[in-house]
Amino acid sequence: MANGDEARRQLIERGAAADEVELRRYRAPWPVAGTRAERRARRRVLGWWALGGAGGVAMAATYLFWPWRYVAPGQEGHRAYVLYTPMLGVTFGIAVLGMTVGMILYAKRFLPSEVSVQRRHDAEGTGSGEFDKETLVATASDATARAGLRRRSVFARVAGASVAAIGAGAGVTALGGFVKDPWQHSRSAEGPLDTLWHTGWKARAGEKVYLRLAAGDPDEIVLAGPGSVAAGGMAAVFPFRESERGHPELLAEALHRADNPATLFRLRPEVALADRPGRKALGYGDYYAYSRVCTHLGCPVSLYEDQLSRLLCPCHQSQFDLKDFGTPVFGPAVRALPQLPIALDDDGLFVATGDFTAPVGPSFWELRT
Ligand code: FES
Repeated sequence: MANGDEARRQLIERGAAADEVELRRYRAPWPVAGTRAERRARRRVLGWWALGGAGGVAMAATYLFWPWRYVAPGQEGHRAYVLYTPMLGVTFGIAVLGMTVGMILYAKRFLPSEVSVQRRHDAEGTGSGEFDKETLVATASDATARAGLRRRSVFARVAGASVAAIGAGAGVTALGGFVKDPWQHSRSAEGPLDTLWHTGWKARAGEKVYLRLAAGDPDEIVLAGPGSVAAGGMAAVFPFRESERGHPELLAEALHRADNPATLFRLRPEVALADRPGRKALGYGDYYAYSRVCTHLGCPVSLYEDQLSRLLCPCHQSQFDLKDFGTPVFGPAVRALPQLPIALDDDGLFVATGDFTAPVGPSFWELRT
């Protein structure tokens, strides 16, 4: 045994004696290095860590290169799009599993096993003395030496590489906004930054945008009119353009786009609205439409208390007052529900006369309302 090891060993024994600790067993798991059993155990640990590292690399690659843009059902690439989020989860799971199982196996097979017995002391608030601290450090470094971290430097290298790979995967996802340009496909003739600032309700080329009721069948198109909702009632609506008829992928996109869902309300005639300049004109008679996406964290705001004309979000109990044009009156939401301006066309059907009055959903940067 080298002099340093011997000195450390003696210090441990002195420390144990001073603390009245009886070391019943204190042995390195592999006193003889390089046996077949040790090599087999080492391969298993390294294999799990390598798997964890591969998971981290795969997660970063998935985030960077997997097709993540929305593809409607039936279109080429839809299956890959649907698998984007599960792939992130699976690769992250592999990374964590590999590292964790590797760490457990390493601790079980390569850290020294020790059985000690000590009488319980009362330090009476004096803390540890210098001698106690020295023996603690000696014990820790002895465990490191016996675990073979220096001798088996491949452990440190593979574990370090795996941690680096997982860190790279997590870092890429955290810094993804700098890697991927979220505005990339959002510059159009109608102006820049279109995707985040506008929804499917925005008029295109002067075409009418109807309020389509959720009929349950994605192919059945039912348009909303004044008779669609009873007084005190509500209905979920989605944008529809005649040019989309007969195009399943366009119809599906209108139904699935996250910021499209809106709710059409028909208030009771006796409901008195707050005095907000210009807001009554965005409705039609007793009919008003608002975004269905909660401004707190984006849950569907779908519970309506007709007596109070309040909308309740089931996730964190935010309440929005329809008498005050969707202003939050309770709970964590701080922004009003964006209102959808509506009118009645010549055929007696509701149409949206513009996009929502504010960006939909939870707050993001550049938001002023
Ligand atoms: S998501 Fe609606 S209250 Fe939190």
